Amino acid sequence: MMASVTAAARAAAAVLLLVVAAPSADAHLAMGAYNKTCPQAEDVVLKEMTSMVAKSPDVAGAVLRLFSVDCFVGGCEGSILLDSTPGNTAEKDAPLNQGVRGYEVVDAIKAKLDAACPAVVSCADTLALAARDSVRLTKGPFIPLPTGRRDGNRSVAADVALNSPPPGANITDIIALFATKFNLTAKDVAVLSGAHTIGKARCSTVSPRLYNFGGQNGASDPTLDANYTATLRGQCKPGDNATLVYLDPPTPTTFDTDYYALVAGNKGLLSTDAALLLDATTSAYVARQANATATAAAASEFFADFATSFVAMSKLGVLTHHNGEIRQVCSKVNPPSPSSSTSTAAAQLTATGGLAVALLALAVALVL
Ligand SMILES: *[C@@H]1O[C@H](CO)[C@@H](O)[C@H](O)[C@H]1NC(C)=O
Ligand SMILES: *[C@@H]1O[C@H](CO)[C@@H](O)[C@H](O)[C@H]1NC(C)=O
Ligand SMILES: *[C@@H]1O[C@H](CO)[C@@H](O)[C@H](O)[C@H]1NC(C)=O
Ligand SMILES: *[C@@H]1O[C@H](CO)[C@@H](O)[C@H](O)[C@H]1NC(C)=O
Ligand SMILES: *[C@@H]1O[C@H](CO)[C@@H](O)[C@H](O)[C@H]1NC(C)=O
Ligand SMILES: *[C@@H]1O[C@H](CO)[C@@H](O)[C@H](O)[C@H]1NC(C)=O
Ligand SMILES: *[C@@H]1O[C@H](CO)[C@@H](O)[C@H](O)[C@H]1NC(C)=O
Repeated sequence: MMASVTAAARAAAAVLLLVVAAPSADAHLAMGAYNKTCPQAEDVVLKEMTSMVAKSPDVAGAVLRLFSVDCFVGGCEGSILLDSTPGNTAEKDAPLNQGVRGYEVVDAIKAKLDAACPAVVSCADTLALAARDSVRLTKGPFIPLPTGRRDGNRSVAADVALNSPPPGANITDIIALFATKFNLTAKDVAVLSGAHTIGKARCSTVSPRLYNFGGQNGASDPTLDANYTATLRGQCKPGDNATLVYLDPPTPTTFDTDYYALVAGNKGLLSTDAALLLDATTSAYVARQANATATAAAASEFFADFATSFVAMSKLGVLTHHNGEIRQVCSKVNPPSPSSSTSTAAAQLTATGGLAVALLALAVALVL
């Protein structure tokens, strides 16, 4: 475990030097990539998501988080969906991903897609489109999303091991790494954190702020609103890792700007939410959105910003063209086929992306 974010930053920086820059694979993503091969693909995803979110509104937050967890560890190539196999513990079984949910949602949509157009739409795109619809279906913006992602075959739990931002994470270092490796800005960090306007987090993520802040038994995070600390202690008893608490309790299933008012009022649930107040750019964004919260103008600015940052995230480490495959079952790589055109280069690309991205996946927590 890392003792500080500085250690994390150094580790990540060291590895950055070793990692070959990924090719700009997103050049092959396109709006309507399935126009000819599966023209109904996006409609099928929306129809299924509409029905599932209507039955269970929390599905939206879970799927949005699932997508970000996929993208920030090894790229948006569906690696989070793969099951562990004998001899390999997959990303989804990494301790930090224990609270990640929504797998069955992707499986259900993929089944509908394969019924309409067998073996055409990747699991990576299924998840990406479902996440896009999670935003729309919770009254957020409609985000036109380029498609054409293919599925990777590497999913290694160890890639996730460095994801956890230590308590007191130094956001300055994280922002610098985002810029270096992902070409994502401090503004992107502030904007993508706005995804916390919907969804839940596990008590295990929150409890260090409530019970042993800074490693001190009984200490709570002084930057967390005192009344909110008391409320959260009621919801997250000591040692309870499993309970889920809303990130934006006032409007947990509405995609709006309230999140920023919470953060500005020291009621951001996660330490990464609170950390947004410690950087000049991110704190200015929080203040700006919080100040104008509930006004139509603020919502439209945040919505436009979110669409831009979401699309940027959705292009991270994608596999396109001859790289990767179209998985038959999202939880399993396809059986080996001797005539397969999937190349070793594709595997290397996936592996390289996985390593690079995993080490920077401090990001995961920012968009949980
Ligand atoms: C973050 O850590 C770096 C060293 O890694 C230091 O230079 C910087 O001042 C720190 N920033 C904050 C806001 O603590
Ligand atoms: C798919 O159709 C849309 C709408 O006509 C168009 O904007 C887009 O460029 C098309 N994409 C491809 C890859 O043909
Ligand atoms: C980095 O992102 C900006 C948009 O924020 C974009 O204009 C630029 O082309 C990107 N650079 C690279 C190398 O992808
Ligand atoms: C906590 O709640 C009490 C009673 O509602 C209120 O008087 C107090 O100002 C609140 N404290 C904070 C830090 O919000
Ligand atoms: C909760 O998580 C902590 C840290 O991962 C672990 O040490 C502890 O055993 C877990 N408690 C339960 C009840 O699972
Ligand atoms: C907040 O709103 C007030 C009044 O509209 C304005 O003067 C101030 O500059 C705003 N602050 C931010 C950070 O946008
Ligand atoms: C991943 O794909 C490459 C290229 O087809 C193949 O050599 C490798 O065995 C695959 N790995 C797994 C775990 O299936």
